[in-house]
Order: sequence, then C-alpha cells, then structure tokens
Amino acid sequence: MGVKTPVVAAGHDGYGEDNVIGGSVGRPVSIKTVAERAGVSVGTVSNFLNRPDALSPATRERVREAVAALGFVRNESARHLRAGRSRTVGLVVLDIANPFFTDVARGVEDAASEAGLSVIFCNSDGDPAKEGRYLDILAEQRVRGVLIVPADGDRHRIDALRARGVPVVLLDRRATRAAQCSVSVDDVAGGRAAVEHLLGLGHLRVAFVGSGEARQVADRRRGAKDAVCAAGDDAALEVIETTSLNVAGGRAAGLEIAATRRSSRPTAVFCVNDLVALGVLQALTHEGLEVPGDVAIVGYDDIDFASVAAVPLSSIRQPRQQLGRAAAQLLVEEAEDQGHRHRRMVFDPELVVRASSATRLRRRRRSLPAGGS
Ligand code: RIB
Repeated sequence: MGVKTPVVAAGHDGYGEDNVIGGSVGRPVSIKTVAERAGVSVGTVSNFLNRPDALSPATRERVREAVAALGFVRNESARHLRAGRSRTVGLVVLDIANPFFTDVARGVEDAASEAGLSVIFCNSDGDPAKEGRYLDILAEQRVRGVLIVPADGDRHRIDALRARGVPVVLLDRRATRAAQCSVSVDDVAGGRAAVEHLLGLGHLRVAFVGSGEARQVADRRRGAKDAVCAAGDDAALEVIETTSLNVAGGRAAGLEIAATRRSSRPTAVFCVNDLVALGVLQALTHEGLEVPGDVAIVGYDDIDFASVAAVPLSSIRQPRQQLGRAAAQLLVEEAEDQGHRHRRMVFDPELVVRASSATRLRRRRRSLPAGGS
C-alpha cells in the first residue's frame, strides 16, 4: 500500500501539462488521469487549473473531487518552463548560518513579496562549484532573476545567465562593470572607521582578525591598513588569520591572542565580522582577559547578537535589510522595465560603539625596580 503523499516530478505527459507522481508514490497521476476520473476532457482540467470561472459549478466540483481523490498536485516548475516566465527569484548567499545573510534575505523577501514574487533561497558556502549548481537549477526553473552574493571564482555562469536574458544583481559586492546592477557597502570605509576608532582610544598595536580573499574581507583589511598608515609609525597592524569567518574561527584567534606574551599582545582587535568577534570575545574572557580593559574589540555587520553579547560588541553596522530590499527592487526593475538603467548602489557603513571598545587604553604601568616608589 503506497503512502498517500503526492510526490511531484517535473515533466510532461504529452498533453503539454505537468506530469505528477501522486497518490501512491511511483504511480503517475497526470492531467489526463484526472480528466478520465472526472469524465471530462484534458482541456477542462486545464481550465479548472488556470481559469476555473470558465467552468460550470457542477463541472468544477467533479474535477475538484477527482483532483482530491487522486492526490494530484500541480507542478509549478513545469508550468513556468512552458510560460517562459516564473514568479520566483533566486537568492544565493555565502553562509546561511551567518545572521548577516538572513537579515539581508529578510529585506529581499519583503520587497519580492510586494512585487508578487517568491524567493528560492540558496546557500553556496562560498563554494564556486556549489554556487554553479544552484545557478543551473535556478536557470532550469526559469526564475525571473537572480540576486547573488558571489563566491570568489570565475563569473562565467553569472555571465551566461545574463546572456540568456536573466537579470542578475550582485549583492554585498560592487559590480566592476557599469552594465551590471549591484548593491554593496563601502567596506574599505568600514574597515578604516573601525581602526580609526581604536587608534583614537590610544591603541597602537591593533590586530585584524579575518581570513580569505573574499572582496569583503580584503576591503575591510585595506581600510584598517589605511587607518594605521595614516596614524604614523607608532601604530602597527598585525593580521591574524582565522580558519573560518564564524564563531569557531574567532575563538581560535582569541586563544592565540590570549596566549601571546602581554608585552607583544595587541591591545585592540578589529574582526572581519561579528561572528568572529563573538568568538574572540568568548576566548579572551574564558582565558581571564578583560574586554576592553586588556583587549578592545570591534566587529562588523552589527547583527542582533552583537548588542546582547556578554560584553556588548562595538561593530560596523551594515544596513542589512535595506541592502536586500534595494537589491530586490533593482532586480524587479530590470526584469519588468526594458528601459532599465543599471545602477551600482553603495551604502555607507556606520560605527556603533558599545562596551567592548568604550574606554581608552589603560596605560601599562612600567614595572618599578624593587624598593622603588
Ligand atoms: O561573509 C563574510 C562577511 O561578508 C559577512 O559577515 C558580511 O559582513 C559580509 O559582508
């Protein structure tokens, strides 16, 4: 006895309609099967699905009963393939576990819903091959357009999508070409603001904690270096590589900092994002160091967890939902309006100071000679 759960398999039954495996898993239930059960034509069933008002109430009821009895479930993707246009957009992000991206997705979903569109949410894990597989799936689904935080790698799949007339908006990444829409934040300015803030508190030995060559990371690191260079020779920036851009990566970096001899330990840390900063905070306090007394910390993104951390975290705020909303609106414009002009929207980051970097550097007392006063 099969499970009465409709399983949908995209395909056609020769009537130009969906072929749905429904009822008992494996037994095909198609439009034609429904028509035979209801004693009507396939065209009548198609009308039931697309223009029910064209049917008499009695016919509508007969088809409805057949659909229910057979467990027929419409296969939207097959319909969209024929229509050539879908009511969905694809969103591809780097790390679904990072609240930055779910906040951005919130903005995307709000704007897409207002435009009558649904969102297919994809997580690439920053892996170009996985990203490519998702882009292929989105192309097969004939999505209306794609919003993507690109993994680092070649762009030929994105270019191929655009060449087929599928609008693509880069998110959290400034487009290098004018003929491409993008929505991003000035991460160089964000990195510079974070380190200028720490230098302004008297810190001269600052560490940048982050890893990889993603543009977001490279730009923040560049901003940090610009700030240190502008502060003169006394200031120094060291880079501490993390294993990953999450709490575990931050925790490992924090343990490395805590294990450093006090005389050569950085007194301030700028982390590439808040997850890394929360990991550093956890490790430093676990090892008995005070934040900010021994080490001040600034993160990046200003996710909700930053403000409620054990030591509320200073951070560089990115307008996350606004980024998502703006990108989705650009995509809808490009999909709907032939006269669309591509735009590269760049938002400003904002320094938010909290307890983790709220006090000036405590000057280290020089150790006095025995008997000294
Ligand atoms: O994915 C790493 C970072 O890039 C995120 O935390 C967010 O800041 C994005 O811009």
